[in-house]
Amino acid sequence: MNQKLKLRVRHSGLIPLQCCRDLPDGNLFIAEAGRQVSFAIKRVYFINTLANRAAVRGRHAHRRLEQAIFCINGSFTLQLDDGRAKQRLLLNDPACGVRIGPMLWHTMSGFSYDCVILVLCDAPFDESDYIRDHAEFVRLCQTRRHRTGTRRLSP
Ligand code: TYD
Repeated sequence: MNQKLKLRVRHSGLIPLQCCRDLPDGNLFIAEAGRQVSFAIKRVYFINTLANRAAVRGRHAHRRLEQAIFCINGSFTLQLDDGRAKQRLLLNDPACGVRIGPMLWHTMSGFSYDCVILVLCDAPFDESDYIRDHAEFVRLCQTRRHRTGTRRLSP
């Protein structure tokens, strides 16, 4: 992923990490709350063994949760949908993650056999924070836009 890439979807953004490149003795990547990551990290999870080429993960949005997602090995495709704009990103650089803020529908697919995904979150697990129905997500986005007075066609 090009670190100069412009994200068109709302509630997202690139998260470049601090890197200490020390090859051939290894690279060290740093994500510190209040520095590279904007929120206090309350939960960390990772996903590995993505042996099924056809696997699709995510397919939900969160009401309040802030997440930072990193592909720390291999690659995968991250599709983002803010209820208005959609964007597809290839994550293949451990040095740069992506913010998945509240109300951002996200889907992960196209995993390389060696893909490892790391996710940092600002809150403990809470199933009631998930929106798993896309029609409900779109409805909630429209309701929120209406409530905040955001014009449908504004950039
Ligand atoms: P889910 O967030 O749907 O995974 P993905 O977005 O990668 O497809 O979570 C899958 C299952 O794991 C679901 O039953 C909830 C559970 N889970 C926890 O119990 N705690 C957690 O921190 C996470 C992320 C998931």
